Amino acid sequence: MLSVLVLHGPNLNLLGLREPEVYGRSTLDDVNRLLEEEARSLQAEITALQSNHEGVLIDAIQAARGKHHGLLINPGAYTHTSVAIRDAIAGVAIPTVEVHLSNIHRREAFRHHSYIAPVAIGQISGFGVESYRLGLRALVAHLQSLDPA
Ligand code: DQA
Repeated sequence: MLSVLVLHGPNLNLLGLREPEVYGRSTLDDVNRLLEEEARSLQAEITALQSNHEGVLIDAIQAARGKHHGLLINPGAYTHTSVAIRDAIAGVAIPTVEVHLSNIHRREAFRHHSYIAPVAIGQISGFGVESYRLGLRALVAHLQSLDPA
């Protein structure tokens, strides 16, 4: 069965409370439940982890090698700052989809650049919680095209 690691970066533990006009009212548990259901319908499974710490996210990416087939990541603010997370993704060469709840391209200029996008298959941004569902579907379709069962 296809296994996908879902990583949520800093402050995403506050989902539902944090700037709901930007990020919506769903909690992180709601997002993970939705992804679990979606994964089941795609005959895949997910393992989800949230951390506010760059190094913890990097350790999880490194440990995913040989364990997970794909990575779905919302790097939060590290999107715009972290060469180290980008290097970890490039280093393990696990197919990765980057997702954002908000449309980072219509927000402040400092959010327009992503260090992660060049090492991802693609980026989905601006659809709220739906970004995660779309991202998971796109990632699983990509993985299946690499290795059709
Ligand atoms: C975010 C967008 C980032 O710019 C921000 O720092 C976040 C959340 C999003 O999902 O819209 O923490 O990744």
